[in-house]
Amino acid sequence: MSNSPIQQQVDKRRTFAIISHPDAGKTTITEKVLLFGQALQKAGTVKGRGSGQHAKSDWMEMEKERGISVTTSVMQFPFNNRLVNLLDTPGHEDFSEDTYRTLTAVDSCLMVIDAAKGVEDRTRKLMEVTRLRDTPIVTFMNKLDRDIRDPMELLDEVENELNMMCAPISWPIGCGKEFKGVYHIHRDETILYQTGQGHTIQELRTVKGLDNPELDDAVGEELAAQLRDELELVLGASNEFDLEMFLQGELTPVFFGTALGNFGVDHMLDGLTEWAPAPQPRATDAREVVANEEKFTGFVFKIQANMDPKHRDRIAFMRICSGKYSKGMKMRHVRSGKDVSISDAVTFMAGDRSHAEEAFPGDIIGLHNHGTIQIGDTFTQGEVLKFTGIPNFAPEMFRRIRLRDPLKQKQLLKGLVQLSEEGAVQVFRPLNTNDLIVGAVGVLQFDVVVARLKSEYKVEAIYEPISVATARWVECEDGKKLDEFQRKVSTNLALDGGDNLTYIAPTMVNLNLAIERYPDVTFRKTREH
Ligand code: G4P
Repeated sequence: MSNSPIQQQVDKRRTFAIISHPDAGKTTITEKVLLFGQALQKAGTVKGRGSGQHAKSDWMEMEKERGISVTTSVMQFPFNNRLVNLLDTPGHEDFSEDTYRTLTAVDSCLMVIDAAKGVEDRTRKLMEVTRLRDTPIVTFMNKLDRDIRDPMELLDEVENELNMMCAPISWPIGCGKEFKGVYHIHRDETILYQTGQGHTIQELRTVKGLDNPELDDAVGEELAAQLRDELELVLGASNEFDLEMFLQGELTPVFFGTALGNFGVDHMLDGLTEWAPAPQPRATDAREVVANEEKFTGFVFKIQANMDPKHRDRIAFMRICSGKYSKGMKMRHVRSGKDVSISDAVTFMAGDRSHAEEAFPGDIIGLHNHGTIQIGDTFTQGEVLKFTGIPNFAPEMFRRIRLRDPLKQKQLLKGLVQLSEEGAVQVFRPLNTNDLIVGAVGVLQFDVVVARLKSEYKVEAIYEPISVATARWVECEDGKKLDEFQRKVSTNLALDGGDNLTYIAPTMVNLNLAIERYPDVTFRKTREH
């Protein structure tokens, strides 16, 4: 088994996503990573890539206007004898549940931190999601060409706020105008920074050894002395890299550099391709599926609408978990029990959609979908099982949705339920009123839903503000206690698109009180499909 063709493909693959706060440098680092992967000849073209290649539908037009990239959902490139899949995590205004769910489809993550700012809000949230699977995290401290915070303090912040030990692999020498490079602890060499070379793969000067007098010449005596002092402190106080702890998500290797200057990105990539895990086993409701199994399995983690408006189709993004996809093969869509022949799956080579002949565990393929595929669906070669751990996430923004033409209520509900099955948005129907509440993780989702309701369901809807802070799915094993709970708080209860009971909290204080008052009821932030 261990040397089977599938095993060889599995061993090569590394599938990861980037987590960061907006403006920390995700787009820039993606460009440089692709430059190293030779997917781009010259970095600097990820944003707005593909525009002009496909005509855009209305809401893609809308995304484009807002400068949001949609065409680079999955990028595959070779690096260090590995085949790397980088899954894009929508950020800025296009932040959505897709961002969260993409993190359930990878085997590791790169966390990019703006070293002038430290750990920011969005990063904290995304890290919560990676915790669901204890995903291994590689850290890149970015923007060393600016004045940054004390590196030691940055490591402390990651350790305390994200509850993960840090093992620095490189250490910065100066920052801002005085940024001279990094000392690579594992290689015992200093790599010297050159400004103005960010768009190329650079030949960089290195100095071997920490006590080498050449180092003093290269960075100046003062910075060299500071580096030696700092390293003594750092190596004494911080953790050494430990592969096992990294793979358990307990320790993160930390690299320093500047994405804009394309410096340090290659150190990070070396670490990631060497240490990050190959496609991992995945839990299902029946058994654990291991990547090198001969039979094909996969699950859908994202559905994107109207990538090609000529066909008005949707693309279901599927992570392959085991076996091999080959063009024309038959797959069982487990939820419907139907066998389907897949002859036109797409892969996403550096942002372009191209037809895939073959794909392996860790790869993502796109299936054309006319509304039959839902988020979380499992595909197999006949075995009945369902991958778990592809949840819905409690929305954080809410609006009441109303129709301009009240006669189209049925159409509205149908559209909303369908869009919620696709994961575009979540819909809640309060038990006591006829309202429809739309909940989303990111604000752009609201606009997308109205645009799609209009174009696909021919209903014109508008939003009204509503005072809801958060939602939790509720469960209680004790039927009597659940009845009592339902009676007492019925004004706060609603059903979601899949008829699951949900607690709609007007404020966080209200939610916390309810949790305290009803200890037998479980309030969940995520719900399995
Ligand atoms: P994001 O995808 O995480 O939102 O961040 P993005 O890469 O778009 O970077 C946000 C801003 O930070 C950009 O500047 C980018 O050039 C800058 N940046 C990224 N990495 C570095 C770095 O290592 N050093 C410095 N000094 N800046 C960096 P912008 O002015 O907002 O956009 P642009 O006009 O340059 O595209």
